[in-house]
Amino acid sequence: MGLDAVSLGRTGLRVSEVAFGTWRFGRENDAGEVEVGRERAHELLDAYADAGGRFIDTADMYGSGRAEQYIGEWLAGRDRDEYVVASKIYWPTREGPNGRGLNRKHLRNNVDAILDRLDTDYLDVLYIHRWDDRTPAREFMRTLDEFVRDGKVHYLGASTFEPNAWKVAKANEIARREGYEPFTVVQPRYNAVNREIEATYLDMCRDYDLGVVPWSPLAGGFLTGKYARGEVPPEGTRGATDQQFVDSYLTPENFDALEEVEAVAEEVGATPAQVSLSWLLHHEQVVAPITGARTPDQLRENLAAADLTLSADQFERIADAK
Ligand SMILES: NC(=O)c1ccc[n+]([C@@H]2O[C@H](COP(=O)([O-])OP(=O)(O)OC[C@H]3O[C@@H](n4cnc5c(N)ncnc54)[C@H](OP(=O)(O)O)[C@@H]3O)[C@@H](O)[C@H]2O)c1
Repeated sequence: MGLDAVSLGRTGLRVSEVAFGTWRFGRENDAGEVEVGRERAHELLDAYADAGGRFIDTADMYGSGRAEQYIGEWLAGRDRDEYVVASKIYWPTREGPNGRGLNRKHLRNNVDAILDRLDTDYLDVLYIHRWDDRTPAREFMRTLDEFVRDGKVHYLGASTFEPNAWKVAKANEIARREGYEPFTVVQPRYNAVNREIEATYLDMCRDYDLGVVPWSPLAGGFLTGKYARGEVPPEGTRGATDQQFVDSYLTPENFDALEEVEAVAEEVGATPAQVSLSWLLHHEQVVAPITGARTPDQLRENLAAADLTLSADQFERIADAK
């Protein structure tokens, strides 16, 4: 019972098999409400840690820096070294043309700001949050390598997806040629209804031995089964306040795939959320899905997915559903 430790790709670092994502910490939704304030954030982190969770995912822009701040305050009362904390840089965090992207000025500025907010000397994993076509890969790979040499960052990751598979490969070839630290982990979107990385990205990851840490493992909540075909999203859900979510997730094809997830859930006596997470946990290339629960109850439900076993047939049926 509880969360096991797994290797982060080919690195020597061990992480929890389910990571906890903090995107909603300090974030205002379209209705102007803070989705997860400080107190709730600390309750969620407590619930995750109580279940044995040690792999926390954040980014410099989550809640305009508040997510990292909440995590830093929470970590202050704990043994920092027990936790693996990952953050990301790319999206704008200050005004001006250099306040975004992967240029050296922005990267150096932000890595220090991240360490300040988290109140820590080092980050376990630093991801590029997206690919930056304006900055040469050689420039940012060299800057990222500097962070590893300085001990500010331990491992490098790329949070990019399908069309950029070849770019990640190119960056790692540059790193190999120049003796820089390569990317050893990637963070793409992946779940039972968002399968775009199956085109070429996963092949690239296999070839470069990159650990895959998927975001939105429940398709933002769609795979929990709380949305019904043709019905208005329930109050208080992401679907109720986010039209983009409704347009991209509440589609006929997704509801068809969800039916297969629900059928398997019935067979194994689990919830659709648990089966969806378990499907990723059974995937040979997945290191740790990042669950994005908004309440401690949701989180406890999701973490119990680690104890679930799917048969090969059940795995394949979900794989074939979309
Ligand atoms: N690298 C990137 O570009 C990127 C992008 C997105 C996310 N991420 C990372 O991945 C993490 C997870 O992403 P995500 O929030 O989209 O993940 P997700 O797990 O697919 O969706 C989380 C949402 O699903 C609903 N939910 C979760 N568990 C539930 C349950 N048991 N019952 C009912 N509803 C449940 C909640 O929505 P309601 O609000 O409706 O309750 C919650 O906000 C983020 O926190 C972040 O760390 C990274």
